[in-house]
Amino acid sequence: MAEDATSSPLAPRAQALTLRILARDRVRVDHSASVAAHALALAPTVPAADRDTLVAAAWLHDIGYATELGETGFHPLDGARYLQAQGWPARVCDLVAHHSGARFVAAVIGLGEQLSQFGFVEDAVSDALTVADQTTGPHGEALSLDQRLREKHDRHGPDSADARAQPQRDPYLRAAADRVEQRLRLH
Ligand SMILES: [Fe+2]
Repeated sequence: MAEDATSSPLAPRAQALTLRILARDRVRVDHSASVAAHALALAPTVPAADRDTLVAAAWLHDIGYATELGETGFHPLDGARYLQAQGWPARVCDLVAHHSGARFVAAVIGLGEQLSQFGFVEDAVSDALTVADQTTGPHGEALSLDQRLREKHDRHGPDSADARAQPQRDPYLRAAADRVEQRLRLH
């Protein structure tokens, strides 16, 4: 049955769905919970009306790793497609599809066109989601952006799609981190 995603708030339902879909992947649940907590800490950098969407997307951003959702094998796209089919708001689906510069990796693996069916908007919300993910390690531990980029490189290997997307993706991640830092200073 489709999730009832037609009324707010979204974040508690996003949490419940993530805990259910990733129930067999405790490590990923820990990571998702930490990204959600981090997104909540960054909530002052986004408009008040967008904070629920930000935290919901943070909970949901990695559900595409669940085996039963693995349609293309590219987790941002698989997660976004699942959420879209379940009737989640387009903004949440778009954020999940494009979290952490997914478009750069999609281009490298030939899924750019499919991913572009989801809208990418570079704004305070997409920045905060990306920074929350990129400063949270795979087990939910807090990392600096540099530590996280090194950790991914070591884990995925130099020939991975992640590594091949690095020259285009890393500048975007660093720019997003700078923008979030500036917004935090304003608060
Ligand atoms: Fe993540």
